[in-house]
Amino acid sequence: MDDPLLQPFALKHLQLRNRVFSSAHEPAYADGGMPTDRYRLYHVEKAKGGVSMTMTAGGAVVSRDSPPAFGNLHVFDDAIVPWVQRLTNGVHEHGSAVMIQLTHLGRRTGWAQDDWLPVVAPSPLREPAHRSIPKEAEEWDIERIVGDYADGAERMQAGGMDGIELEAYGHLMDQFWSPLTNHRDDEYGGSLDNRLRFPLMVLRAIRERVGSGFLVGIRMALDETMPGGIDAATGLEILRRLESEGLVDFVNVIRGSIATDAALTQVIPIHGMRSAPHLDFAGEVRQHTSLAVLHASKIDDVATARHAIAEGKLDLVGMTRAHIADPHIVRKIIEGRESEIRPCVGATYCLDRIYEAGEALCIHNAATSREATMPHDIRRSSSARRVVVIGAGPAGLEAARVAGERGHSVTVLEAMPWAGGQIRLAARNPRRRDLLGIVEWRVSELERLDVDVRYDSYVDSADIVAMQPNVVIVATGGLPKLPEFEEGGDLVVTTWDVLGGDVTPTGDVLLYDDNGTHSALSGAEMIARSGANLEIVTPERMLGIEVGGMNHVPYARAFNETDTRITLNQRVMSIRPESGRLCVEIGSDQTKHRVTRHVDTVVVDHGTVVNADLYFELKPSSSNLGAVDYGALMDGRPQSLVRNEAGTFQLFRIGDAVAGRNIHAAIYDALRLLKDV
Ligand SMILES: Cc1cc2nc3c(=O)[nH]c(=O)nc-3n(C[C@H](O)[C@H](O)[C@H](O)COP(=O)(O)O)c2cc1C
Ligand code: SF4
Repeated sequence: MDDPLLQPFALKHLQLRNRVFSSAHEPAYADGGMPTDRYRLYHVEKAKGGVSMTMTAGGAVVSRDSPPAFGNLHVFDDAIVPWVQRLTNGVHEHGSAVMIQLTHLGRRTGWAQDDWLPVVAPSPLREPAHRSIPKEAEEWDIERIVGDYADGAERMQAGGMDGIELEAYGHLMDQFWSPLTNHRDDEYGGSLDNRLRFPLMVLRAIRERVGSGFLVGIRMALDETMPGGIDAATGLEILRRLESEGLVDFVNVIRGSIATDAALTQVIPIHGMRSAPHLDFAGEVRQHTSLAVLHASKIDDVATARHAIAEGKLDLVGMTRAHIADPHIVRKIIEGRESEIRPCVGATYCLDRIYEAGEALCIHNAATSREATMPHDIRRSSSARRVVVIGAGPAGLEAARVAGERGHSVTVLEAMPWAGGQIRLAARNPRRRDLLGIVEWRVSELERLDVDVRYDSYVDSADIVAMQPNVVIVATGGLPKLPEFEEGGDLVVTTWDVLGGDVTPTGDVLLYDDNGTHSALSGAEMIARSGANLEIVTPERMLGIEVGGMNHVPYARAFNETDTRITLNQRVMSIRPESGRLCVEIGSDQTKHRVTRHVDTVVVDHGTVVNADLYFELKPSSSNLGAVDYGALMDGRPQSLVRNEAGTFQLFRIGDAVAGRNIHAAIYDALRLLKDV
């Protein structure tokens, strides 16, 4: 027990069993603003996994005029209390503490939702990320919102929370104290004393309501790192004042601003960015306060977390996305199974999805947030079967892993000398290399599970039938698809050629993105960074329409730094050779007007077409003729369709071999099918 991470910690009266916590993050699983079963089970799983404390919500909103920007919980509603009680009971039962982050979003939201109330802030200054221009808070707004905070805190106390955390970076509380967002000339603006008036009113009202026995913390930017914003000296001065009045019991350190997506990536770094960039800063804050110091920012591996505690930089170390990827981190440390921790690869699919699709999902853990139906620990099967998996991309690897956990005898046949499929291609962009963790973790798990992985194995249907399998999983992936051009389809190369290193375009390059996903933008980034003169053409109304805001940032940086030309709402119609170069005709869906470009290379991305010949060859020998019982799949029952009595094995096709999708889809296909095989 001398692991620094496993030392208990007393947060005032609250005994925490170790030093690892999950910081507030809104996963957008709420149902009508209530933390119903999905929300509860998601947090209970972390408690089962041994975390010391899970901070629920991501700014549960205290007022009706704080419209939920990303599925936030409705703390302003009394109906939330019983739901909170169920959640806190569930977490406490497994030995973890549980708190909730409360907020009023101020200008960090939009008005066109829920009650359509105007957005409110200290001054009518637009927040770039959410775009609404707020009304300037009047006195009656301030009084009302202060009361709402206290009411919200009381509800959470009644619901059995161990404490609350106030969100004070980019939200209403600090919008008042930051000179960047507070341009008022009344008693709430100007001097630091005036700018602190509203947040102090909030904290005093909360303390008065919940008493000193209830934990109250603050998550604040101690240095906004913005010219004219809160600097470290002022940040520490604010903290000193809150501490000296006994208003807060802990501080959760943030450094930076979240007003733009680009700034947000500095606070929540994505893959390709530095690990633990603000840890030393948080350590310096700890030198200046006697409050417990918490912090989370890309501390995604156990060694860095251990260093943070061992070196006294933090009291509690946040491993938030790391727990989205694997909620059982602490349990695995305790059991000496650290190498089995599923790594967070920083893809930030989770965060991007709360805006793009209204729910956080992990790129490579399909069980997260699906705890009601998908297991994090795979149950062993009562009857061992022979499972052959063809293809070692994400779908095939996950299928083999789950089948191995089930106790089956598993063989993986991969045509290439390595595993990874399209992930290996994506990771050719050096900035996205961490994606390889998705592959490496599975390869290492397959070794532990004694799965027989055969590389350089190009097999036909007869080879597979000869293996006498009970179950065959075809996960052979896809191949690049070309759009329908009027002419010249044979003159183009694909983004796969660029990412794979087979083609390095030079001179004038036109990249036609008729897909909108990472592969096009990543190929474009590599071309732009290599010094070619690049134009990206897309028929969409925005660039990379399937890529979320956080992931968009480094692409935009690359295109801005290289003067890449971006042309929206345009389609490449034809390509023909002309004087040793290519003449590209460009049209659009909106008009018959056409223009031309003269370039050296045309690169296209139009998604993938299935690579499934083997599946169709195997179909006649299978018992189910490849059919999937979707009802059984959804209900978690084994597949039992028989369409061919003479068939000797069940045959299933998963991942991009069925239809071109993404990594999460491939992994989810595999998990939900194989967990019941
Ligand atoms: C899906 C998601 C939603 C988040 N929402 C919030 C939020 O509402 N409030 C907050 O203070 N932090 C939020 N965060 C930030 C996390 O608390 C944490 O600071 C961040 O993920 C960096 O820590 P990590 O690298 O350990 O994940 C969110 C993070 C994620 C991934
Ligand atoms: S989506 Fe990526 S960043 Fe988010 S938890 Fe999963 S691996 Fe980590």
